[in-house]
Amino acid sequence: MKENQVIQTMLEHKSIRKYTEKTPTDEMVQMIVKAGQQAPFASQYYSVLLSRNKNRNPFKAPLLFTICVDSYKFEKIMEKRRWKLVTNDLTLLFFGIQDAAYMAENMVIAGRSLGLGSCFLGSAMFRADKIAKEYDLPQRVFPFVQLAMGYPAENPPTRPRYPIEFTLFEDRYPRLDDKIISKAMNQMDKGYLTQDYYRKARAKIPLRGRREETFTYDDYSWTEHICRKWGQWYPNSKELVDQLVERGFRIVKKESKRTPSRSS
Ligand SMILES: Cc1cc2nc3c(=O)[nH]c(=O)nc-3n(C[C@H](O)[C@H](O)[C@H](O)COP(=O)(O)O)c2cc1C
Repeated sequence: MKENQVIQTMLEHKSIRKYTEKTPTDEMVQMIVKAGQQAPFASQYYSVLLSRNKNRNPFKAPLLFTICVDSYKFEKIMEKRRWKLVTNDLTLLFFGIQDAAYMAENMVIAGRSLGLGSCFLGSAMFRADKIAKEYDLPQRVFPFVQLAMGYPAENPPTRPRYPIEFTLFEDRYPRLDDKIISKAMNQMDKGYLTQDYYRKARAKIPLRGRREETFTYDDYSWTEHICRKWGQWYPNSKELVDQLVERGFRIVKKESKRTPSRSS
């Protein structure tokens, strides 16, 4: 198995956040996107934007791909075929995000096989309005993730993952007892602490409200970090829904306005 280069490339994956000045060739870019396109798809519901402006991404990477869910392009095809789009936007988005995500990950692997490193940027969906202006996007195109790419100027260790038995459940979803949960948490936390990841990245998420800080970088690790994210951020979906609506997607059921009933 170790001889298998594809698996080895995947097992050695690491996000890269520092890049050299060297620019990947046009041929490499084309090859990476072609490899992305060859991912399985439901309906090729995506487009990829490319910027070579290093100032457009926080890592100053020479390439910045913005991967979009693209209904606009597909609706053009429907128009030509004289079909009307009936499928609701939530369903289209679920399929579109899958298409775009499988494509994006293929691009990561293709890039790596050509000696390039990369890192996703998850904030794109919250900046969809700004990205739409920058790239002159038509309505019904939604930028959902960005991918910085270039030649690595760092070689970090591979980051930990859950144990396989906390991920792969055969035939039946098991009752997760304390032992298996603790083992998974330990594996993640020990792994990141051994690499001193959060101290080096200065990435401790501040606590909101009245919660008292009890962690130092000696014990702050992945499970606390991820709990602070999803225990504090984005309590409602408005921000994201607003971005989607502005881009021409409708995912909220329009509620009929009720006239207040008179009590007398
Ligand atoms: C959807 C998504 C969004 C991400 N956003 C960011 C980001 O904004 N900044 C960043 O430094 N890394 C980002 N990452 C990279 C993750 O932090 C990284 O993949 C994870 O910590 C595991 O590390 P590894 O990729 O080195 O194995 C993102 C990854 C994904 C899949």
